[in-house]
Amino acid sequence: MTSPFPLEGTRCRLRPWTTDDLPALVRHADNPRVSNHLRDHFPSPYTDDDGRRFVAFASSQHPPSALAIEVDGEAGGGIGVIPASGNERRTAEIGYWLGESLWGRGIAAEALTLMTPYALEAFSLVRLEALAVTTNVQSCRVLEKAGYVLEGRMRRSFLKHGVLHDQCVYAWVLE
Ligand SMILES: CC(C)(COP(=O)(O)OP(=O)(O)OC[C@H]1O[C@@H](n2cnc3c(N)ncnc32)[C@H](O)[C@@H]1OP(=O)(O)O)[C@@H](O)C(=O)NCCC(=O)NCCS
Repeated sequence: MTSPFPLEGTRCRLRPWTTDDLPALVRHADNPRVSNHLRDHFPSPYTDDDGRRFVAFASSQHPPSALAIEVDGEAGGGIGVIPASGNERRTAEIGYWLGESLWGRGIAAEALTLMTPYALEAFSLVRLEALAVTTNVQSCRVLEKAGYVLEGRMRRSFLKHGVLHDQCVYAWVLE
């Protein structure tokens, strides 16, 4: 079977992570403004060892569930899915991040638009869902631009740095 990669857009391309990405990964990821809205398993500070562990994990997944968002020839961020299990096995959560120097160029929305059909097919899904802290207006906008539909609000569901936040639930559903 031919590889679907890279998933080619006009602002970015998505492709599997490699160890060559480590310097760019750590440079872009090691930023509290990137990690602030993400779960704590995204480390802050983000060290070389964190990067190596992440790339080893990403490279072990077949088909790849975590892809690099490549911009101007280097990895500038990441996008990935975590398939659920049991009765929710046709659902996955999707998440993404981008280095701060690349924000505001429509890259995340394009990455999400490229990732959505790939993930649905590669993991036999019918539903992709994303949770965004309600104050993360950029991410909510990214989800809307990529066609995700707001389904509700999970009140006080996200604890970060000792503060509880509401989260918006967005989903893309294959009817
Ligand atoms: C969220 C994130 C991925 C967005 O990436 P991006 O490439 O800058 O996003 P885009 O350029 O595609 O879209 C951002 C949108 O938010 C809008 N926006 C930016 N700042 C805004 C603000 N303060 N208020 C309202 N809208 C805002 C932009 O105008 C743009 O919408 P538009 O295209 O309609 O003008 C990036 O900020 C990031 O990595 N943040 C840290 C990690 C994170 O939050 N990940 C998501 C977790 S759910």
